[in-house]
Amino acid sequence: MEQALYQEKLCTAAEIAEQIESGSVCACGTCLSEPAAITAALGARLRTLDGPAVTHHQTMPVYPSAFFDEALAGRYTAVSWFSTGYAREAFARGLADVMPGYYRDVPALYGEEINLDVFYAAVSPMDRHGYFSFGTTGAECQALARKAKQIFLEVNPHMPRTFGDQQIHLSKVTALCENDAPLAAAPPVQIDPVSEKIGALIAGEIPDGATLQLGIGAIPAAVGLCLREKRDLGIHTELFSDSMVELIECGAVTNDRKTLHRGKSIATLAYGTQRVYDFLHENVGVEFYPVNYVNDPHVIAKNDCFVSVNACLEVDLWGQVASESIGTRHFSGTGGQVDFVRGARESKGGRSFIAMPSTAKGGTVSRIKPVLTAGAIVTTSKNDVDAVVTEYGIARLRGRTAKQRATALIAIAHPAFREELTYEAKQMNLM
Ligand code: COA
Repeated sequence: MEQALYQEKLCTAAEIAEQIESGSVCACGTCLSEPAAITAALGARLRTLDGPAVTHHQTMPVYPSAFFDEALAGRYTAVSWFSTGYAREAFARGLADVMPGYYRDVPALYGEEINLDVFYAAVSPMDRHGYFSFGTTGAECQALARKAKQIFLEVNPHMPRTFGDQQIHLSKVTALCENDAPLAAAPPVQIDPVSEKIGALIAGEIPDGATLQLGIGAIPAAVGLCLREKRDLGIHTELFSDSMVELIECGAVTNDRKTLHRGKSIATLAYGTQRVYDFLHENVGVEFYPVNYVNDPHVIAKNDCFVSVNACLEVDLWGQVASESIGTRHFSGTGGQVDFVRGARESKGGRSFIAMPSTAKGGTVSRIKPVLTAGAIVTTSKNDVDAVVTEYGIARLRGRTAKQRATALIAIAHPAFREELTYEAKQMNLM
């Protein structure tokens, strides 16, 4: 019966694009959830479509979508809810707007603030009961499916079938198409000596049995790779990526000592190399849940001994953490950084680490600054931050005075900048 209905709803990506009216507000889930054939077909349709622009919302786009195409400017509005390369560049060229916010609020904002016409998503092939899995993206998919007026799916055999709260039944779908195309993959993680040093420092603070969240970027990945000798680690994370596969396969992660979801790795999205997607396919050891659950600090805190590791761009002497912009240059988004810092703080025995190399631009710029670069966006507040790490050590800030913080941060700055930072700290009465 499901097969007959499947055939009834099956059409081409172009036919799906035809069903999207001008002025529609559309969204897909995070990252690999983008149905690349449908969005490409919609791009082609936009070239001739009259009437109000179509709006496309997406968190962490990784495909060179039609929504960042200069030739279509004015015919669409692209909104990035967390920017990586394409969206960052599109914003810089005036082709995209950005939605500030906590990642965990994304599901609620649709419906509350944004009336959604279309939800489209890449999914794994249907199972024999008529269910598709959202594969690498739990995040906002269920919420979008509940709130949209039309649901279009792009069935991709490369999308892993995953478990958790992350399925949609054929009966809910307006139409579907098929696209046999490999998923976008992240470049393999390159661990440079600085990341390795930072990884080793943080690894020294992580006890056996801890439950981990590792954020986005080279440093969290390096931390993961430094944990291979640990025992009985657990995973409760926003982003599931290569270092986690490594830790599970080498036996460091068992999830046996977790105090929530024992025995399972929990995530809300996955992005990495093909190794990650192969590992996830039909793997009951990993479960994906919506981001409003996974990133909720109260849920995170139910994991005893929770350790969160996230990267940032710069930190000032009070301990304000900027992770989203380099001065006025838009770079990424808040994501789950603040929620994991807060969740770790509330966890029994929890810790959180914010890490960065001590310098940028080939060693010419210190990333520990007296004040943040003008225009820098504060992601994690000085009141939430626990510890900041560079390749020169760990500065514990929680429960430390302003002067103690400045001293601790200068001690982990690159030696070439310590004198200047000390001078500035004195000018600011921080020493
Ligand atoms: N001044 C000038 N340039 C700077 C800079 C600064 N203060 N800080 C970084 N840069 C440059 C770097 O040198 C690097 O340049 P390159 O690409 O030419 O080498 C570039 O900016 C990126 O910096 P890097 O430290 O390599 O970033 P990353 O890829 O490791 O990502 C974040 C770091 C902070 C952007 C990323 O972790 C993020 O988006 N965090 C916010 C959300 C979050 O933490 N979510 C957690 C849950 S997943």
